[in-house]
Amino acid sequence: MSGYECPQNLRSGPGSREAHTRARAIIPGGVNSPARAFGKVGGGPPVVLLRGQGARVWDVDGNSYLDYLAAYGPLILGHAHPRVVEAVSAAVRQGPLLGTPTPGETELAETLRAAIPSLEMVRLLTTGTEAVMTAIRLARGYTGRRLVVKFDGAYHGHSDPVLVRAGSGAATVGVPDSLGVGSATASEVVSLPYNDLGAVRGFFAARGEEVAAILVEPVAGNMGLVEPEPGFLPGLRRLATAAGALLVFDEIITGFRFHHGAVQDLLGVTADLTCLGKIIGGGLPLAALGGRRAIMSRLAPEGGVYQAGTHAGNPLAVAAGLATLEELGRPGVYEELERSGAVLAEGLRQLAADRGIPVTLNRRGSMFTLFFTAEKVRDLAGAEASDHRRFARFHRLLLDRGVLLAPSPYECWFTSTAHGPMELEETLEAAAAAFAALD
Ligand SMILES: Cc1ncc(COP(=O)(O)O)c(C=O)c1O
Repeated sequence: MSGYECPQNLRSGPGSREAHTRARAIIPGGVNSPARAFGKVGGGPPVVLLRGQGARVWDVDGNSYLDYLAAYGPLILGHAHPRVVEAVSAAVRQGPLLGTPTPGETELAETLRAAIPSLEMVRLLTTGTEAVMTAIRLARGYTGRRLVVKFDGAYHGHSDPVLVRAGSGAATVGVPDSLGVGSATASEVVSLPYNDLGAVRGFFAARGEEVAAILVEPVAGNMGLVEPEPGFLPGLRRLATAAGALLVFDEIITGFRFHHGAVQDLLGVTADLTCLGKIIGGGLPLAALGGRRAIMSRLAPEGGVYQAGTHAGNPLAVAAGLATLEELGRPGVYEELERSGAVLAEGLRQLAADRGIPVTLNRRGSMFTLFFTAEKVRDLAGAEASDHRRFARFHRLLLDRGVLLAPSPYECWFTSTAHGPMELEETLEAAAAAFAALD
């Protein structure tokens, strides 16, 4: 993963540069999440944003951008959606944190269960990292086993076990195996190639009885978007069941992205435990873990698997989540999202083809990745083989033309309900100019 050098960022104005210099003196790398750094798409300061509205964001220099970062996935209604703002404003007036159960938490849990049949019980948490960390602890507590099988290039947050060959920001900054993760932890995690059912079968034949959980993004989103091949998820389901292991779906990106529910119900494979985050918090920190009653009831205080949180089920986040899920329940919303995803992705593919630039476009609904390669991308090796130098150039060229993407070839573009025909047309015009300037 080298060869990212890029010309000087033309777009980052003096305000972004100054803000970043000040941040770097006090915050490691000047960012509070490594995925936000621009170091690997040409270096220089990241764009420092002040505000967002609808499909657009504005930086500290007053430049505006059409936003396809969507804060890494949550903002399916765009920025500062009026319903969400109203709901959060009302909630904050009632007191932002109460420290006891609140009716809104139960309402949200019920809303999630109504949308995702496999969630017989639900626990609300604050971050996706916590949801996956708790799912692993619960799977281990329930099965009495230690081993976790995961997949190369997946990202499941930053708890120790899942940083073994992780994707997303970890892959981008070149530390997929983090320092500080002990060898004992690493020995309890096995990372196999995504979409390689044969490898999982082989592993289960040897050690299936030691496996507590198979942890998988049912549609991968952290090596770029990679679809499960036919048979892969049903195969995992069969292997887990036969070995007495749990199947855990990380739907932190995919939950409510493609329809009003989890992608598992579109794919016809049911998880024992499901992790949710991002969209269900409507832009505020909220996550959930849900699944079979027999397993979920092992969580404290009903059972002996401990998990807790001062901010778990935070009233503001619950209010934002409920408003978001209600908006997403309006008729036609997902059809609109499918349309905007298709128009943009097909437009980009055509523009690249017109210029003879080899690309592969993996898309589902309002989420896609444009890989700079002619080859099919079905796993991390495929994503790594795409032209990262070209991506870095393209990223910068789009930024200079007012289009914001995640600063990594391992992330996705997300459209929102705020991306209408005008925004899409403007984006495709910028992309046409970017492709024309790409070498
Ligand atoms: C699939 C997936 N799982 C887990 C996480 C971790 O969530 P959080 O950043 O809220 O801790 C992410 C974050 O990007 C993710 O994409």
